[in-house]
Amino acid sequence: MIHHLRAAGTSFVLDARGTGVPVIAHWGSDLGALSRAALESLVDTLIPAVGPSSVDSPLRQSILPVMADGWSGRPGIAGHHEGGTSPAPAFVLSGAELLDAGLRITLDATSLTVVVDIELTPDGVLRQRLAVTNTGDRDYALASLDATLPVPTRARELLDFTGRWPRERQPQRHDIANGTWTRDSRHGRPGHDNAFLMVAGTAGFSFRAGEVWGAHLAWSGDQRLWAESGSTGHRLLGGGELLDPGEVRLATGESYESPWLVSAYSDAGLDGLARGFHRFIRSRRRLPTRKVMLNTWEAVYFDQSAGRLIELADAAAEVGVERFVLDDGWMTGRTDDRRALGDWTVDPVKWPLGLHPLVDHVLSLGMDFGLWVEPEMVSLDSAVAREHPEWVLGAYDNGALPLPWRFQQVLDLANPDAFAHVHAQLSALLREYPISYLKWDQNRDLLGGSAHRHTTATYALMDALRAEFPGLEVESCSSGGGRVDLGVIERTDRVWPSDTNDSLERQSIYRWTAGLVPPEFLGAHLGAATAHTTGRTHELSFRLATALFGHAGIEWDVSTLAPDDRAAVAEWVAVYKRHRALLHSGDVVRSDAGDAARWVHGVVAADASSALFAVVAMTATRDAVEGPATLPGLDPTREYRVTPVRLGAWPRVVQDAMPPWWADGSVTMSGRMLAAAGIPMPLLAPEQALVLEVTAV
Ligand code: DGJ
Repeated sequence: MIHHLRAAGTSFVLDARGTGVPVIAHWGSDLGALSRAALESLVDTLIPAVGPSSVDSPLRQSILPVMADGWSGRPGIAGHHEGGTSPAPAFVLSGAELLDAGLRITLDATSLTVVVDIELTPDGVLRQRLAVTNTGDRDYALASLDATLPVPTRARELLDFTGRWPRERQPQRHDIANGTWTRDSRHGRPGHDNAFLMVAGTAGFSFRAGEVWGAHLAWSGDQRLWAESGSTGHRLLGGGELLDPGEVRLATGESYESPWLVSAYSDAGLDGLARGFHRFIRSRRRLPTRKVMLNTWEAVYFDQSAGRLIELADAAAEVGVERFVLDDGWMTGRTDDRRALGDWTVDPVKWPLGLHPLVDHVLSLGMDFGLWVEPEMVSLDSAVAREHPEWVLGAYDNGALPLPWRFQQVLDLANPDAFAHVHAQLSALLREYPISYLKWDQNRDLLGGSAHRHTTATYALMDALRAEFPGLEVESCSSGGGRVDLGVIERTDRVWPSDTNDSLERQSIYRWTAGLVPPEFLGAHLGAATAHTTGRTHELSFRLATALFGHAGIEWDVSTLAPDDRAAVAEWVAVYKRHRALLHSGDVVRSDAGDAARWVHGVVAADASSALFAVVAMTATRDAVEGPATLPGLDPTREYRVTPVRLGAWPRVVQDAMPPWWADGSVTMSGRMLAAAGIPMPLLAPEQALVLEVTAV
């Protein structure tokens, strides 16, 4: 049978006729409603010629490419049955089941069964997951089980990401050449340099234009994403968990399930992809209103005392903060980052009455309370490591532990006793205090032990706590943005995209992270004037404009603010509250137009009735007078009023006079004119941003 899945401008056609492994005949632009006969004829027509010096039948990409089908690219499954030689598997189709959202295909080889789940969601997101079961009588050592998707050869350019602490998700782009471009992550977490999203696209694809095919692996452990192009004519995107030899060994009857490869197609550039991904994520995760938070980290670091923090809580409440999050430093003996991870009890020296005085005060101010934890880690200088040195993960064959990283080691959560210890301590805290929010940190690469087992155990701990404490919100942090993926987003409510609160860095981190993750999941904090991570200084209005487009928070000692700044922050909080329903449900748009020095991004309401944009001067512009800034993504047929929003102060400009429309306070234009002609902007000095409120009239 031929299966045709269609949604949101995308078609996926699977040729599952006969007994061979089903072939992906098409993934891309919607083919329209097709009769059975039309589908058959299309699929038959798409069968390629037989190449010279090749197998004697046409080479087509299946959902599990293997040698037995003539495939010489990277195989969909690799492994061996232990003891003796193990012939390569040849699969036949043994079942095709229609599921609510897609298909389940069962493939049998002599000693293996592989089940492939394929879903095309209503938002056009294609998800694939594979499960292998050892049906032989010897153990099966799995090397890899990967999902792959064909892209047409007109996809000529590839975009993926790299980065470092605290400069995550920086784009890298090149032409696709023959060979395999693989991005391995062996950090035990995706890592700051994670490929994140791999996008193949037609020449020159951009935010707003071009055909693009993108894939992301929903997994928080070791992984690889790749693009492969071969002289046999195949071109594909693939992804799967990166397994160590022997890490997954299946006894007879045992199974391994891969993470989901989450992919999408768009003929409207990267914004089209983002829209599909965001809608898909939103359909799975309904988040509560994103409260404005204050996180204590950059305000006080380890210098915690009830008096100091109560003062900070008072100042936070005064500017309109709704949640107060106590960061690292509250646990027994945690005077710095060299000790006490793994002992999840409140420090009796800093907190002689427990956290109660602070928590009670925070609640009395109408805010709720959040707490930082790092459940997967252990300091060797801790009670738990002294009592249970065997719980430290990853000792090598010479007995040595992995090199310390931020003076810490990983706790072996896959050990049921270690798991039970952390679980009991965290549950006790959640029972003792009215904690509505956990900031769940993870601050090192594993560098030993099984990343597969560790990731699975971490997910299990998150799942257990969420089930036990419904309503608990969890933020995923990993030295900033070392773990931003759709696996962790299935079970957490926010990610911390980066440890930098430098607004210039943040503009770029937001621009690219929001290509996959919706803004309401992206923590965005207002930091001190001089950023702690870079030493760069920015004016308040630029910092406010930058921290508006996400889940807003403050990470600054607001108890020390001058009255003007305090008023500006309070006004910003009010603006955020007024616009958060839009910011957290609309479509992210990023303009292609203009000089690389001036970025325009925004969020347009799903019904296009309103939008919020930011025009950002990243550096000095090439020309003294820049062309108009275009605002994409609005309804071309509607009229909109565009009004600049003052955040504390207007951005600094370098000009002799404002564009004339400014004197009127706003300008009204159609969505078509805003996208095509745009509006002349005040000539922003470098590292300044202007926020624009857009309302249909
Ligand atoms: C790393 C995180 O990214 C920071 O935000 C902060 O929570 C520190 N850890 C605390 O140790």
